[in-house]
Amino acid sequence: MTRCRALGNVPNDLMAEYYAQRASAGLIISEGVAPSPNGLGYARIPGVYSPAQIEGWKKVADAVHQKGGKVFMQLMHTGRVSHSANMPEGAKIVAPSAISADGDMWTDTQGMQKTELPEAMTTAEVEATIQEYVQAAKNAIAAGFDGVEIHAANGYLPNQFLNPGSNTRTDQYGGSIENRSRFVLEIARQTAEAIGADKTGIRFSPYNPYNGIGYFDETFATYDYLSSELNKIGILYIHLLDGAARGKEEGLELIQKIRKNFEGIFILNSGYNAARATHAIETEGADLIAFGTSFLANPDLPYRLRNELELNAPNTATFYTADAVGYTDYKNHAA
Ligand SMILES: Cc1cc2nc3c(=O)[nH]c(=O)nc-3n(C[C@H](O)[C@H](O)[C@H](O)COP(=O)(O)O)c2cc1C
Repeated sequence: MTRCRALGNVPNDLMAEYYAQRASAGLIISEGVAPSPNGLGYARIPGVYSPAQIEGWKKVADAVHQKGGKVFMQLMHTGRVSHSANMPEGAKIVAPSAISADGDMWTDTQGMQKTELPEAMTTAEVEATIQEYVQAAKNAIAAGFDGVEIHAANGYLPNQFLNPGSNTRTDQYGGSIENRSRFVLEIARQTAEAIGADKTGIRFSPYNPYNGIGYFDETFATYDYLSSELNKIGILYIHLLDGAARGKEEGLELIQKIRKNFEGIFILNSGYNAARATHAIETEGADLIAFGTSFLANPDLPYRLRNELELNAPNTATFYTADAVGYTDYKNHAA
């Protein structure tokens, strides 16, 4: 989960401590990590393209492994969900088309701002961006991570390609479902080739309008197609943010359709507690459940769930601040 503690976009010792505190999770999926400077839309989020960043991530992976945990790196390119004040020199805001996300965005130097109009990527830039993901995945493995998750949810760049509201391209990356899915599927295919399909996961959030992405008519058909194609590639898992889908009949059907299409590991997330998690695993074909906010606030979450202990409440005021307060200081019964 994005926590904005990576000063200078480089992972640090405080972050290694935070992740190590949570090593009792079966699998940690990291915060969103930018595969390139263009992907750094938010203040103080980390990247994985420079030697200093790779060195920083080594400390994180080592700290988690030393405590017996496993950790995947989530590759997150923010695309049009961005502001230039957050980005390093030379980076630019890019998206499938020059259409604004029309959202609000925190910047450390200018306070709250509107997200800025992105530049439409050329076909060559789309292909270069796919290569940035592949290189970032290799860098994650070089840093000792157990795998990567391609963040294709929540309105970020891959999601911007999937949705015709943000993608009005006329080349092979826009138009039909196959074309709009091409960016995501090429990243998945080439990442799987580079680091192994068994180290490659992906995250989706169908029907979730978050970050200005909005709804579109062909949602069911798009994710039906994606899950079938990802099954052919044979990636390790699909991680579904299922909250918005559960709000509609078609969405509930889609969750089951994806489960049917995809023979790999199926992870569900959003708003789960122990009882709902058990129910989804026993009756809905889920293999794993991801816990977000509750893990943020409870470094010992498995211990607490197992022992039916009360949970710490998350402090929303410190979700995106810069220091240890509200980050590494949550009470830990198991430590
Ligand atoms: C502070 C915060 C940061 C988040 N950062 C990310 C992120 O970097 N990548 C991502 O896929 N989801 C991110 N999310 C969404 C969570 O992963 C998760 O989907 C959401 O909180 C719902 O799950 P929960 O009910 O278990 O918290 C974030 C959520 C919060 C509250």
